[in-house]
Amino acid sequence: MNGPIQESTLQEMIEGLRRFGADGRGVTRLAYGPAWCEAQRWLDSRARELGLDCTVDPGGNLYAHPPGLEPAAPVILTGSHLDTVEQGGAYDGAYGAVAGILLAAMGLGSGGIPVVAYVSAEEEGSRFASAFLGARSMLGMAEHADLDSTQDSAGVSWRAALEFARERGCASPVHAGPRPFEPLFRPRMELEAHIEQGPVLEAEQKEIGIVTSIIGFRRVEIRITGEARHAGTTPMAMRKDALVAAAECIWSAEVLAIEHGDPAVATVGRAEARPGAFNVVPGECELRLDARHSDSAVLGTMLSELEKRFRAIAERRGAKLDWKPVSSHAPVAMSADMITEATALAGEMVFSFKKMVSGAGHDSMIFAGQGVPSMMVFAPSHRGISHHPDEFTPMTELWEGVRFCHALLARLARRDAMEGAK
Ligand code: GLV
Ligand code: MN
Ligand code: MN
Repeated sequence: MNGPIQESTLQEMIEGLRRFGADGRGVTRLAYGPAWCEAQRWLDSRARELGLDCTVDPGGNLYAHPPGLEPAAPVILTGSHLDTVEQGGAYDGAYGAVAGILLAAMGLGSGGIPVVAYVSAEEEGSRFASAFLGARSMLGMAEHADLDSTQDSAGVSWRAALEFARERGCASPVHAGPRPFEPLFRPRMELEAHIEQGPVLEAEQKEIGIVTSIIGFRRVEIRITGEARHAGTTPMAMRKDALVAAAECIWSAEVLAIEHGDPAVATVGRAEARPGAFNVVPGECELRLDARHSDSAVLGTMLSELEKRFRAIAERRGAKLDWKPVSSHAPVAMSADMITEATALAGEMVFSFKKMVSGAGHDSMIFAGQGVPSMMVFAPSHRGISHHPDEFTPMTELWEGVRFCHALLARLARRDAMEGAK
């Protein structure tokens, strides 16, 4: 890649990345899988062409950094995730990951605290029920036992998936010592560029969103066990139909979220009934429930009420219900200082902006949750479509986000240097 970094560089990289995992409709890049590995290697080579050096960590995260950067150096991290949901779009995660690499390259030679790009693994939780495996491993937040107990739906452990990635050059060996992961660099701040994934910025004709906080979520796997019986011979009054019980639970989750009002949301994103034949009353049904709220206490109340209602439904229908929480994160506030700087900068650069709460989860949650000052910049999403093949943002709007982040990083680096000199 020759010449200055510009909008066409961003376009070339986003378009290039979408080929990895293209499934005919959208993009499916499950963490540590073949398409994900190929995409990570491709980004590595692109980053090197831009003058950066690249390092992978044991959690399968890629860092693109100034050559010669010492391990454990204090840095500003900027990036996002490489994995997608199944049949997702080409921008969720990809935008921030590519933007991060461009921002690190644009920062080369500018002096001050180095800007390091990260490209993380398994932010979505699409392969492993547990989300943010990459960001958590970046910060050393995992035990050896987690590598074996975290398994995908085919029973492949996180450890085995990392080994698959390691054989392809996409992860370094897991540490044998007491902790499997140690932070490679010391993040003094973290900035994540991302598409909004909602309709607000486009509707209000704002160029960027400055994220002030990220909503909390809880995820639960539920198994309802009734009785599989002959669909022709079992009278309606004598059935324990697991799928009908599940349907009632799904509806009760919608009712509960509506009762709470905005920003409460509750979704059952998956229902799998067994044995799944025309002529058998379903004996078993598995559900995946996701509930979110910006207030931790309200989210806690929502979850206990959901569990109570689900259990009551199952009991009334003579079915058994197993309730297994699989992942959660409390709501987090973004750094007040970074928000102040971003707001001032938006005014100076004459960017139209909106301060907003993110309803989607992001890697920045993990950094912020660990006390690293973090912030996100959103670019508008066309019609608010996301987690869908039709996800789209015009390239000019994505480039404006990169330009803004570049100026913001320079400003934050100056501020960091001034504070260090005090
Ligand atoms: C991630 O995209 C999430 O909010 O689930
Ligand atoms: Mn994302
Ligand atoms: Mn997502």
